[in-house]
Amino acid sequence: MALFSEPCFAAMMDVAFEGLMVHDGRKIVRANTRLAELFGFASPSEMIGMEHKVLLTADGYRTTEARVAGGIDGAYRTECRRLDGSVFAVEVHARECSYEGKRARMVAFSPAADGGLDRIAEQARALDSTVRALAETIEQRDSFTAGHQDRVYRVAVQIAQRLGVDARTLDTVRMAANVHDIGKIAIPAEILMKPGALSDGEFELVKGHVRAGYRILESIDFHGPVARAVLEHHERVDGSGYPHGIGDPIAEARILMVADVYDALTSARPYRAGLDAEKALQMMEDGEAGALDREVLRHLAGTVLSEDVRA
Ligand SMILES: [Fe+2]
Repeated sequence: MALFSEPCFAAMMDVAFEGLMVHDGRKIVRANTRLAELFGFASPSEMIGMEHKVLLTADGYRTTEARVAGGIDGAYRTECRRLDGSVFAVEVHARECSYEGKRARMVAFSPAADGGLDRIAEQARALDSTVRALAETIEQRDSFTAGHQDRVYRVAVQIAQRLGVDARTLDTVRMAANVHDIGKIAIPAEILMKPGALSDGEFELVKGHVRAGYRILESIDFHGPVARAVLEHHERVDGSGYPHGIGDPIAEARILMVADVYDALTSARPYRAGLDAEKALQMMEDGEAGALDREVLRHLAGTVLSEDVRA
């Protein structure tokens, strides 16, 4: 028998000073206004149905998983990510509960008393700044590539969220998308800006941007395979891509390549107009059959047809 009626439970959620959520092990089934405020959402309803792990950074997710796997209830400290990508430290108090007759987990979030300036959050911030600085480097030289990276970032992150990837993968997609064409810095501007078709030799030079990007990023201590995702973003699932052409790219690259192709098709070029979303999707379904990951393509359609990510 329930101890509290639904109106009483709703009132408790409303008056709590802490951000509160109930999740079913995977998705958020209940959230209060304070939680939405903490994470930068307009209302709790926006959070319902989301994978709860997307609120955590990769390290935060590891910490949380270890506790859940160990069956440890009680308070602990971890780090989270707001909707705008900023990282903050929280005190979390979690325990098993029953929600609408099913096993669930109630989690309370309070911002850490020191404002989140712990070492791990600082590290995440430093990495974010590094990625922003690299993205800015491209912006200074080539505004077309900068705009392209920004649009690919937005589409790729939404696809990753819809796929329900873990926090580490989401972080990797986020960072790699922001700088996936950084290697173009090594390509002469006159080739990058050339309005007509490229010669075979010029195209080979352009293809070199994935290895150049890899070399720029490989020495940065990311938590995930950012450099490898950049190296493989022109690979294809069927082995028809480059630089290796052997297929089986990593998950992060599979997401990047779909967002990348979509942006290339929908962006205007000096010699042609951009396609609309439906036409671009159709072309990717038909022309790239077998070359792109089917599940990622399905979530691309969900992303671009449900809202205007190019706004
Ligand atoms: Fe590229």
